[in-house]
Amino acid sequence: MRPSEFILVLDFGSQYTQLIARRIRELGVYSEVQPFNFPIDEIVRSKPKGIILSGGPASVYENGSPQVDVKLFELGIPVLGICYGLQLIAYNLGGEVDRFAKREYGKAILKIEKDDDLFYGLGSNTVVWMSHGDALVKAPDGFEVIGQTENSPICAIRKKDKKIYGVQFHPEVAHTEKGIDMLKNFVYKICECHGGWNAEFFIENTIKEIKDTVKDKKVICAVSGGVDSTVLAILLNKAIGKNLIAIYIDNGLMRKNESIEVIEMFKKLGINVHYVGAGEIFLERLHGVVEPEMKRKIIGHTFVEVFEREAEKFVDVEFLAQGTLYPDVIESTSYRGPSSKIKTHHNVGGLPEKMKFKLIEPFRELFKDEVRRVGKSLGLDDEILNRHPFPGPGLAVRIIGEITHEKLEILRSADEILIEEIKKANLYDKMWQAFAVLLPVRSVGVMGDERSYEYVIALRAVTSQDGMTADWVRLPYDVLERISSRIVNEVRGVNRVVYDITTKPPATIEWE
Ligand code: XMP
Repeated sequence: MRPSEFILVLDFGSQYTQLIARRIRELGVYSEVQPFNFPIDEIVRSKPKGIILSGGPASVYENGSPQVDVKLFELGIPVLGICYGLQLIAYNLGGEVDRFAKREYGKAILKIEKDDDLFYGLGSNTVVWMSHGDALVKAPDGFEVIGQTENSPICAIRKKDKKIYGVQFHPEVAHTEKGIDMLKNFVYKICECHGGWNAEFFIENTIKEIKDTVKDKKVICAVSGGVDSTVLAILLNKAIGKNLIAIYIDNGLMRKNESIEVIEMFKKLGINVHYVGAGEIFLERLHGVVEPEMKRKIIGHTFVEVFEREAEKFVDVEFLAQGTLYPDVIESTSYRGPSSKIKTHHNVGGLPEKMKFKLIEPFRELFKDEVRRVGKSLGLDDEILNRHPFPGPGLAVRIIGEITHEKLEILRSADEILIEEIKKANLYDKMWQAFAVLLPVRSVGVMGDERSYEYVIALRAVTSQDGMTADWVRLPYDVLERISSRIVNEVRGVNRVVYDITTKPPATIEWE
């Protein structure tokens, strides 16, 4: 169930699409993204207060380019087209798009011509962020130009009586200095929203939605101790109490003492968790497997198999709840638009096509920091909320190459030292994630008077807003020194430590 006030974002494939929805939620109005071909009947039925057409990499003239149903412009619902969205408006309503226009990327100065609605209160000039190939050469009849830049004389247009707006730049990105104000004007002035949507609202709404969906059936929820599944389990517990079956599957790929700590944590939260020790099955199936996507697949399938087996022990289990986040969806699938698959995340793409359960994924539209805010509103401790993300496939994607018991032990010990030292230096809460990776190479060293030939540990520490992009942390040398010296002294089998200084992109955060 959606709140009565919401803004629909139609996705035409831009990497910024979800940012638009997120910005609008930050402005206090619920917003969600749907694929560009979301049927018009459903749009009408869902009664959005406004519709935003996202940007996208295609050209409106291209064969097979994502198109919009022109009926959309006759619904009487305000529309804002961004970049490709603007071109769709022009293309469909009689304007002209120059497909051979000079490509324009980066900053530009927008000269505001009309400042009474979309650009209200923004002054006469403001910096905007352009990223487009095509450009408008003629606005459709009845439209007026409300802003221009040096290279785009028709940079922003409107048809005021129909409340149709279009901008060539991206108001959702931070580089557009007053982008938030523009979106705010659209949402509040043009769509006449009242606001008030926040984490509490989300909680209330989600609890109601879960209750309505689940009724008196049972829901199985896989908890891992991570923020997402913990917040989810608390929500489910509030919504359906004893009909929640929380299961912790120990896949043998967890960090040191993690399993015991997680069970304890849930006990304190008043949630009874069923522990399933399945490490040996996972490790057996991973024996000899080197290829990362194969590892993920095996882990995903085994996970569901173990899950289904456990579920059979309970009657009336119909649903599986997962804490899938938006970045997992965007990086794993292309169902929302033409974004290409990067890696299959365990909690999305690793699932077999045929599954007994119906999925419940209340965080599918959210980013991690939004889930943290939900957790905070639910009263969760900072210590739990600020835990670094840990991937579903666990240490399997941090042991490059084949996974063995010996390698798991080595990595667990190295990782424990890294996290201990980072916490001691008060750096843990200042980063997105830190972890150790075990490389499949041995290097020569000298210990005492003897030659050694042992494994290399790579350290990775990154800052990030949402896991979509990341920068490496400039760890102080003395902290790096302590970590390195403790690892080579305390962890048998390692004689060399290196630090990963790549950003995402081009690298990903995890090594596999
Ligand atoms: P990457 O490596 O894709 O990671 O840059 C982005 C964020 O997602 C986490 N991650 C995963 N989480 N299942 C998960 O639940 C996975 O398969 C997976 N792979 C990566 C990663 O730790 C980082 O925070």
